[in-house]
Amino acid sequence: MTGSKSRWADDEADKEARRREKEEKKRAKLAKQKRQEEEAQKTAEAATARAQEEISRPAKRRRISNDDSNENDVKHIKSDSGSAPLLRFPTTGWSPSRNVSNFESLNHIEEGSYGWVSRAKETATGEIVALKKMKMDTSSGQGFPVDALREIQILSSAKHRHIVDLREVVVGDKPDDVYLVMQFLEHDLKTLQEEMAEPFLPSEIKTLLLQIVAGVEFLHDNWILHRDLKTSNILMNNRGEIKLADFGMARQFSDPPPANLTQLVVTLWYRAPELLFGTSKYGTAIDMWSIGCIFGELVRKEPLLQGRNEVDQLRRIFLLVGTPDEDSWPGFRRLAGASALKLMKNSPGAGKGSLRAQFPLLTSAGASLLAALLSLNPDDRPSAQEVLSDPYFLEAPRPKTTAMFPTFPSKAGGEKRRRVASPNAPQRGQAPKINMEELSGIFSRKEGEEVGAGFALRMA
Ligand SMILES: Nc1ncnc2c1ncn2[C@@H]1O[C@H](COP(=O)(O)OP(=O)(O)OP(=O)(O)O)[C@@H](O)[C@H]1O
Ligand SMILES: [Mg+2]
Repeated sequence: MTGSKSRWADDEADKEARRREKEEKKRAKLAKQKRQEEEAQKTAEAATARAQEEISRPAKRRRISNDDSNENDVKHIKSDSGSAPLLRFPTTGWSPSRNVSNFESLNHIEEGSYGWVSRAKETATGEIVALKKMKMDTSSGQGFPVDALREIQILSSAKHRHIVDLREVVVGDKPDDVYLVMQFLEHDLKTLQEEMAEPFLPSEIKTLLLQIVAGVEFLHDNWILHRDLKTSNILMNNRGEIKLADFGMARQFSDPPPANLTQLVVTLWYRAPELLFGTSKYGTAIDMWSIGCIFGELVRKEPLLQGRNEVDQLRRIFLLVGTPDEDSWPGFRRLAGASALKLMKNSPGAGKGSLRAQFPLLTSAGASLLAALLSLNPDDRPSAQEVLSDPYFLEAPRPKTTAMFPTFPSKAGGEKRRRVASPNAPQRGQAPKINMEELSGIFSRKEGEEVGAGFALRMA
């Protein structure tokens, strides 16, 4: 049967072909299944990354708990959804913090009342950074202090060109040794002004102020109150660029403002009158008051309102901007510290203040902006956004470009600092009550005596 193909042989070949076809199909099916699995995994990873990004970025206009009585209870601070705790460390994954031994300390920048900041070099990269040892008051017995957690959480989520960049958090050998690794800046505005022979030029003041306010606008837009704005917490590099620092007092807020916020915030000289009067319901306007004080300080080259205590601080404020009354600040008498006071009627010059006269170098637009920022009534103070579009910045001289800023020798970059005495940020605890007797002593008129700039207050 030569030359003809066996039927059986064909069958065999068909069989073999079918087996191969079957195997091919099986392989294709497996390959498809594998591809699908890989795709599903990729989608899941992307979703996780997105979720992590959401967590690390504070949602614009995010609302959080209003209750400051829970300031010490991390568990109560929740985001809108109520599911994700607010105090968290945004990371791309969990990894242990590095040790501070990766950095070599070059010089102390500041050994303040509670803080310890030094200039350091990362050994591996040679990069210069600022190391801030965190204040670790664990006396409350609640573990890692909530203030320190807030500072880390807020700084790591508030990424902006005018907010100091927190690179990482490192630890020392003891459990209480926690350090912030930040970008290093050559100056803070307080130390720099103390060293300068002349005040900043008007064009420079505008540039500094615009940057400070842009940083604050970002914070307020993201529901963060700084609560300790002052020249020593405003850093500047040698290119005239500003970064806000020291978020040890910062916290998130909400609208309407939380009801029982601690009053003991903001260093005395920069503290708004409503805080001095003991309000526990306040908002972004307290930061705007501090900006007013900083503006005045930049013009004067010295702090504007250097009160010796709360009462003296109020006295100086009233001398500068006048006294409040029910028209200019409706409801101010209901504040704890103000309720017992009554404005003496018919005092010559009552309510006027002398702000304009005290800033002869400011143009009328500049003086109006300063007066608006230093409005006694918090509702009359402009928002950060409003300040940024104020006519003062449009009139000559125009703001100087940062590239044109002069360079100054950096104290932080070398020698140890000598600090001129000024009050520290308040420490947590009971807010001191305004001593009414003391206050009445200052404001009540003794027989035939005129007090301050033509105004007087007496006990109701
Ligand atoms: N990133 C930085 N680069 C350079 N200097 C810095 C940096 N951060 C802080 N400093 C310097 O250290 C000082 C203290 O820093 P910071 O205000 O953050 O600490 P603090 O302990 O809260 O201080 P204080 O209680 O005195 O306000 C600042 O005034 C500034 O001079
Ligand atoms: Mg500080």
